[in-house]
Amino acid sequence: MADIERDEHSGTDTTGHEWDGIKELNTPLPKWWLWTFYATCIWALGYVILYPAIPLINSATTGVLGYSSRAEVAQELSEAAAEQSVYIDRIRTSSLEQIRSDQDLFTFAVAGGRSAFAVNCSQCHGSGAAGAAGYPNLNDDEWLWGGTLDDIHLTIAHGVRFDDDDETRYSEMPAFGRDEMLEKTEIADIAQHVLALSNQEHDGEAAGRGAIGYSDNCAACHGENGAGDQFQGAPALGDAIWFYGSDGASIRTQIANPKHGVMPAWAHRLDEATVKQLTVFVHSLGGGE
Ligand code: HEC
Ligand code: HEC
Repeated sequence: MADIERDEHSGTDTTGHEWDGIKELNTPLPKWWLWTFYATCIWALGYVILYPAIPLINSATTGVLGYSSRAEVAQELSEAAAEQSVYIDRIRTSSLEQIRSDQDLFTFAVAGGRSAFAVNCSQCHGSGAAGAAGYPNLNDDEWLWGGTLDDIHLTIAHGVRFDDDDETRYSEMPAFGRDEMLEKTEIADIAQHVLALSNQEHDGEAAGRGAIGYSDNCAACHGENGAGDQFQGAPALGDAIWFYGSDGASIRTQIANPKHGVMPAWAHRLDEATVKQLTVFVHSLGGGE
């Protein structure tokens, strides 16, 4: 092209393009840039041939390697499931004691129990199993229904006062006020006696009057000194752990018109291996007997 000339300031040829007297210099791309560019083109071409790349309407080209990230995930999942099923089978066929004393199995069961707990139990018992009013703390060593592996297993499998389970744990504190078994003043005196049993501030005279009423009406379940009775799910009253509240008003309410906690049975909803893992997990929380 005739218009190509050398620019006298830079010493570079022009391309021959000119706009309104402004001429374009012909500065070639640096070699390193070009080679990098060619290399990426070759890489991309290779990739398109080997791997799934070009989108079609409902799928994509599969590539000659036949790779699929979904297949890879499925493969990993089925390997993990196979690994787990070995443990799950052993848990199914082992007694709770055997699971407890086998370090590997125990670690697996506690981890499985923890995640099953987060899904099924934490809405009532709290994510750390610390409970709330009306929902017992499972970390402490006070148990309504017993803290051995077998006790905990029975509670979880069959629940408490759960109508749909024939083997559910059951007991009922009488409604001394509502059913007119005790006068209001008697209830107030007995409540003072319960405050005394648990070493809280109380009216000594009223507590003295309430002692006999307590012996006659309450000791059969809660024990003469308030130690409780796990056979009947009757909480200890002589300590600082309270289920429905430690103050006089809460105690009077419970005597007059008692609450009865209901815990669902899990044997129907979860498989036995999961119930066992939950048992071992709850037992490991600190209060296991
Ligand atoms: C038939 C057994 C039985 C008798 C008798 C009984 N209770 Fe109870 N009591 C229970 C049970 C079971 C619970 C737990 C209720 C629940 O789990 O919802 C309970 C709970 C309580 C609580 C709540 C404890 C807490 O931690 O919040 C108090 C207080 C109490 N009882 C006091 C009494 C007093 C006082 C009497 C006598 C007037 C009495 N109970 C008689 C079975 C009994
Ligand atoms: C709908 C609420 C609810 C859910 C969900 C629930 N619980 Fe409970 N749980 C309770 C109540 C209420 C009690 C107390 C029952 C009573 O009054 O005796 C209880 C009691 C217990 C006890 C007995 C504690 C003791 O002191 O003896 C254990 C163990 C327990 N739950 C474990 C579990 C596990 C494990 C799960 C999950 C699989 C679970 N709970 C799910 C409400 C629930």
